[in-house]
Amino acid sequence: MSRQNLRTGTESKEDHGAHGNWLSKHTDSGEAPSLKRVEEITGKKLTFYQCDLLDINRVDEIFSKHHIDYVIHFAAIKAVGESMQFPLKYYKNNVIGTINLVEVMKEHNVYQMVFSSSCCVYGDPEHLPITEDHPTGNVTNVYGRTKYLIEEMLKDLTHAEPRWNIISLRYFNPVGAHPSGRIGEDPTKNFSNLMPYIAQVALGNKPHVEVFGGDYNTPDGTGVRDYIHIMDLASGHVAALSRLSQEHFRYKPLNLGLGRGLSVLELLAHWERVTGTRVAHRMAARRYGDVPTLVCDGSRGQRELSWTPRYDIDDMCE
Ligand code: WQD
Repeated sequence: MSRQNLRTGTESKEDHGAHGNWLSKHTDSGEAPSLKRVEEITGKKLTFYQCDLLDINRVDEIFSKHHIDYVIHFAAIKAVGESMQFPLKYYKNNVIGTINLVEVMKEHNVYQMVFSSSCCVYGDPEHLPITEDHPTGNVTNVYGRTKYLIEEMLKDLTHAEPRWNIISLRYFNPVGAHPSGRIGEDPTKNFSNLMPYIAQVALGNKPHVEVFGGDYNTPDGTGVRDYIHIMDLASGHVAALSRLSQEHFRYKPLNLGLGRGLSVLELLAHWERVTGTRVAHRMAARRYGDVPTLVCDGSRGQRELSWTPRYDIDDMCE
């Protein structure tokens, strides 16, 4: 089953004005501990619903219980490799799940949303750094195509119904953990992203990192990405919510990235320098669907959101 996150900034009917946060998550592995840690870190009570966006009646039930002002829509499964093996699972979960969500939102007069999109919508970029005006849709992997289709659907929605006010945040490569170390990326199943893999090798749980491709047209031949700390990503979402409350513009895509590219070998070197642990790695064949370089021009996102990333690559390795 799919993993669904539905986070809302709300004013619950019961609370009469006390802003609350409702998290709705369908999870197939007990993640209650991480939710408990979020409550301890924030000092806020989270109301938690286990829900799958594919269960539209359940989603409607949640919206009927609370007065919801904004939705931050994280609901997606995002393993690029897996998306190529099980395309229908990705179209169903990511696209149909979003259709269900926006239908219920409309039913309950909720038209403000921050959508978790992805730099994958740009495909193999025609120019670098990538601005929001770069063409989208020329995507080789199913995960990225689902994000592209959802963006196009949301744009159509805002043209048909002017009350919608939506920001699509195009994440580049989120990495890192909360400074407390109590919440972070701890993939429980097979995972493909570089940073968690490095961590597993450093912990001795994996023998070495395979570097997918050493012959790309990049300075050292390995893939270059724009890594952004997860804490900056989180503050970017808070800034997007506040932006929605300030102005009605219907639809706005914004890049969330630092605008600085790091290659695989550079990231490995940073990790070893910051942590003092060596990470065994071997050169391997390119991974299908990878593009050589994905680096954004993050200036519009920073300007529009009055948001400044604060964490650097060393923080991402700690
Ligand atoms: C990064 C680089 C690989 C693993 C991400 C995610 C997601 C999305 C952005 C939001 C590439 C190389 C990787 C490994 C390697 N953001 N690599 N060995 O592919 O950019 O995808 O895109 O949706 O965060 O989908 O991230 O971490 O898998 O790869 O050499 O074991 O590391 O070739 O150059 P990617 P990644």
